Amino acid sequence: MTASAKDQVVIFDTTLRDGEQSPGASMTLEEKLQVAELLDIMGVNVIEAGFPIASQGDFEAVSEIAKRSKNAIITGLARAIPADIDRAGEAIKHANQARIHTFVSTSPIHLQFQMNKTEEEVLEIISKTVAQARNLIDDVEWSAMDATRTSIEYLSRTVEAAINAGATTINLPDTVGYATPAEYQTMFEQVIANTPNSDKAVFSAHCHNDLGLAAANSLAGVAGGARQIECTINGLGERAGNAALEEIVMALHTRGDVLPYACSIDPSYLTRASKLVSAVSSFPVQYNKAIVGKNAFAHESGIHQDGMLKHAETYEIMRPEDVGVRATSLVMGKHSGRHAFKDKLAELGYELGDNALQEAFRRFKDLADRKKNVYDEDIEALVEDQITIESE
Ligand code: KIV
Ligand code: ZN
Repeated sequence: MTASAKDQVVIFDTTLRDGEQSPGASMTLEEKLQVAELLDIMGVNVIEAGFPIASQGDFEAVSEIAKRSKNAIITGLARAIPADIDRAGEAIKHANQARIHTFVSTSPIHLQFQMNKTEEEVLEIISKTVAQARNLIDDVEWSAMDATRTSIEYLSRTVEAAINAGATTINLPDTVGYATPAEYQTMFEQVIANTPNSDKAVFSAHCHNDLGLAAANSLAGVAGGARQIECTINGLGERAGNAALEEIVMALHTRGDVLPYACSIDPSYLTRASKLVSAVSSFPVQYNKAIVGKNAFAHESGIHQDGMLKHAETYEIMRPEDVGVRATSLVMGKHSGRHAFKDKLAELGYELGDNALQEAFRRFKDLADRKKNVYDEDIEALVEDQITIESE
């Protein structure tokens, strides 16, 4: 299937809203502007720039991003409260393309303990608040918070009410990261089938990573009929985070054979975006993080290094340069083999005869057993030392 024949998936980035809700991840206005600019350049379709009623700072960030962004739709979050919706409308009003994103809880546990409202009361709130947002703007997203712990029957009624009131995107979040991929896919299939006007809106997946399933669930949501995915750079977000944008984008790129959906993100910006968000949020990226971790394209074991030197596809399913990494790295350590060691020596400008190579390799293994990280300088010192001994 060619890219043009694939269904397009809208990428909705919420690094600056759900991501910033991570305890300790707050960003300054300047930092948010930098992140938004990069998101816009790399092809994100919708940028959720903040929660305008939450603070004056959030309002200013959303409104400044709305003024500056060139390509993306800019949205701000609003609870199902008239003042929130007005504030969000005010913050995004200067954007080239703008959206209001409003939400309300739908699960029994949230209705009882968080809202103290009946199902019928919540249906009324949805109709009123979505209509209010729609009076301000044509592009309105409505989210059913805690959708995955809501009955399909009631969820379908809420979705029908939101679409009747003018919602153009319907988001069904896995707010607490509880769903499994099969369940999440089925939820979309059933809600879309049960809601008479479901063809009037784009459905959206929004997954949290409490069980480490956020990216898998998002893709399952698409298999079930969603055509928008909400995600964050580095998977930043509440608790264990949101679905990671880079994982979703590269899954679509790498496995187009079984995931026949296209997105507009240029993956060569992924590493840069990851580094920027890590720096401004002060959240380090774990070394083994998929796609953007320091070790994502690094190999230490002898068998893997030998394979990589023969053909890159032996142990890599993506090319590092596709995601903005300069090259694969063969890390020299105690698991490295002779092939990689010889290659490293050549890279450092040494060509040793068989016996000298044998001896250097033995000394390198000794060193690697003692030292956690073996740097180029260590190998240079070791070879220079050996050359001196041999010449004496
Ligand atoms: O996780 C969630 O339910 C949310 C909503 C506000 C969309 O972030
Ligand atoms: Zn969320």
